[in-house]
Amino acid sequence: MLRSRIAGTGSYLPEKVLSNDELARLVETSDAWIRERTGIGARRVAAADEATSDLALHASKRALKMAGVRPADVDLIIVGTVTPDMPFPAAAAFLQAKLDAPRAFCFDVSAACAGSLYAMSIADKFIKTGDVKCALVVGAELLTRIVDWKDRASCVLFGDGAGALVMVPEPRPDRGLLSTHLHTDGTKTDILCIPGGGSKKPFSAEVLEKREQLVKMNGREVYKIAVRALEECSREALVANNLHPGDIDHVVAHQANLRILEAVLKRLEIPLARCHLNIEEVGNTSSASVPLTLDQAVRKGAIKDGQSILMMAIGGGMSWGSALLRW
Ligand code: ACO
Repeated sequence: MLRSRIAGTGSYLPEKVLSNDELARLVETSDAWIRERTGIGARRVAAADEATSDLALHASKRALKMAGVRPADVDLIIVGTVTPDMPFPAAAAFLQAKLDAPRAFCFDVSAACAGSLYAMSIADKFIKTGDVKCALVVGAELLTRIVDWKDRASCVLFGDGAGALVMVPEPRPDRGLLSTHLHTDGTKTDILCIPGGGSKKPFSAEVLEKREQLVKMNGREVYKIAVRALEECSREALVANNLHPGDIDHVVAHQANLRILEAVLKRLEIPLARCHLNIEEVGNTSSASVPLTLDQAVRKGAIKDGQSILMMAIGGGMSWGSALLRW
């Protein structure tokens, strides 16, 4: 069967850096606490005139350039995001217009931090059926607009950014995207969510008073589920491809929290050195994290032809998944 492969990667980080020390002037926290519990040293914050589709645009242009693809030749654009420019239309529609890619049909995927991995899996299916020849998959988030800057337990984690992947058909049977495994546990919607401002609890004075239009997180619960779920879906990927942890050359994981990644890789018995890390510099960039991390690794020349990459991500929903690629 036809496979898909990643022909180009791109990413974008807004200019403004917000260090832990600067953050400690906004909420009662410290550089030492944030580093020890999360591994984060700084995060990026988008400029006031930047929307999610603007971040996505920069990353997409870079990915298309690497792939040697013109915007006019893109058939499909999927953006994984929980911070679209507007509740609707999709951020992908805004991106299509800015990119000038009129042929592409476009939609967003709402799977929180797993959004770009879900989007990659969907694009893969369209390519496998032959319906799509070139897909642009983007993870773009402006989390700093929806975090509660009065909640020190969550606001220290997140940052803004975007990553993009160009996906095309791969004729070689042993190369490209080998598998994806996606999961959701809808009984855990309350541990990481924005409770107000949707159809269940529309904007009201009460919503604003309780700050329910902003991210609410039960960090301990998220931590526990994340470690178990990421281990399980990674094992699924290994078994499906008849691989062992020692066969994995690179791990490209959603950078939720360094402690989560350390725990998952220890359970999988994959050395942390194989996992590309940027959490110290950019924090948790939600659905941007996986394509952003991949792009940084690719541009460093770290990933060689024929090497294996294990991807994993988890986010609100809870939604999670893994992917295995042969570069
Ligand atoms: N600075 C200083 N102290 C803090 C901060 C802070 N930023 N945040 C919380 N504390 C305090 C708490 O008030 C509490 O104080 P108390 O003991 O006096 O009550 C103490 O630190 C311990 O709080 P916990 O919430 O129990 O701290 P924990 O060790 O669980 O660390 C954290 C919190 C970092 C959020 C952790 O639970 C975690 O990593 N969870 C995973 C969450 C995550 O990664 N989310 C990412 C988004 S979801 C995703 O991407 C999958």
